[in-house]
Amino acid sequence: MPDTITITDDRTGKKVTVPIIDGVFPATAVRELDPSLYVYDPAFMQTAACKSAITYLDGEAGILRYRGYPIEQLAAKSTYLEVAYLLLNGQLPTPDQLAIWKSEVTRHTFIHENMRKRFVDGFHYDAHPMGMFVSAVAALGTFYNDAKEIEDAASRDKQILRLVAKMPTLASMCYRFSVGLPFVYPDNDLSFPANFLNMMWKIGEYDIDPRLERAMDVLFILHADHEQNCGTTAMRVVGSSHVDPYSSCAAAAAALYGPLHGGANEAVIRMLTEIGSIEHVPAFIEEVKSGKGSRLMGFGHRVYKHYDPRATIVKQTAYDVFEVTGKNPLLDIALKLEEVALSDDYFISRKLYPNVDFYSGLIYQAMGFPVAMFTVLFALPRTVGWLAHWQELLADPDQKISRPRQWYVGPQARDYVPIDAR
Ligand code: CMC
Repeated sequence: MPDTITITDDRTGKKVTVPIIDGVFPATAVRELDPSLYVYDPAFMQTAACKSAITYLDGEAGILRYRGYPIEQLAAKSTYLEVAYLLLNGQLPTPDQLAIWKSEVTRHTFIHENMRKRFVDGFHYDAHPMGMFVSAVAALGTFYNDAKEIEDAASRDKQILRLVAKMPTLASMCYRFSVGLPFVYPDNDLSFPANFLNMMWKIGEYDIDPRLERAMDVLFILHADHEQNCGTTAMRVVGSSHVDPYSSCAAAAAALYGPLHGGANEAVIRMLTEIGSIEHVPAFIEEVKSGKGSRLMGFGHRVYKHYDPRATIVKQTAYDVFEVTGKNPLLDIALKLEEVALSDDYFISRKLYPNVDFYSGLIYQAMGFPVAMFTVLFALPRTVGWLAHWQELLADPDQKISRPRQWYVGPQARDYVPIDAR
């Protein structure tokens, strides 16, 4: 069987044959047929907008790999900083490379005092931490004039380092402002996750339980990248204009803020709290199925038509965390929801399974994070994924400024009366 596809324009009889490589064929075939012909594909359901060598995702089989490594192995055997290096550089670091990378990240954790005293302190007292975070990431770029020099490899590396290193500081800064606590400076003797936990909670002397430190690191690894999702697409589209990476990351973070994307873990906790007890689960499921109530948050995925492999790891990690914190009382409702949904034809026939957000909120809540911080906890590690895609975009000779076309359905010139004749 030939690995080609032939498209015929029935209006003209013209045919174009193009290769199918890895299940993809170039849309230039359509241009060859007729340059004024476009493909209508809202939400990019059937469109590969780029080539990428970063993350592999097989939604039917429930497989996720970063640079070829299965997510299960990375979550079991690596640290977030190793995974960040892997995503950015294509290979896991050698011990020497890791030592340099760790030391560089550690030396870039501090943020200019004006960011806190003038910028973050200027928010309204009840500002949402994720709203603050989105704006703060964009504002951070204004402190580095070299951020605009995106043609310069050394400058790009510097901005990547700054963004990766400063995200925990920025995240804790937004949180502590939102609850009226004084800022805690980074402690560069601590690991990446321990430093973040310390900046979040330190009130007097804060002892970090190593199990919670490891759980935080695993959650960071699981959220580090997920190929061309809404936030990463925002990063690429905005980055394609060659704006600085802080502005692109802010756009990606804004996309993540939405309840259908990174905001879903927050919505899961609200949903579980509203359900209130396992006796109410069947009625809630019926309401979801009727389409009258909300969706079952934390279920379903555009790409996974199978159990999300990240959800399996998050569920295991939840039990490790509950050993330290005690069980989250919402866990039983979540388990019951999963059991009922996975045996119901509505969810089975639509291939709706738990996604990464279904259990992550339960862990965050048990660790003491307020619900409003959940999306920030997603954005913090995802920053490295956004930056890996940004680097790849800039190096890709096929890429130009993103500029999709539209199917115009508004009035034509012939349909309206000229203004002067009205
Ligand atoms: N609960 C109930 N029904 C659902 C759900 C759900 N969570 N998700 C999809 N459906 C139904 C939907 O109503 C539709 O049914 P029908 O064919 O009868 O009209 C069918 O399944 C297909 O849904 P869709 O909206 O066309 O699917 P999509 O690929 O556009 O949506 C999604 C993907 C994640 C937005 C959606 O599943 C959803 O809204 N889930 C809840 C929110 C959520 O958990 N989001 C986190 C996503 S994972 C983290 C991330 O990547 O950000």
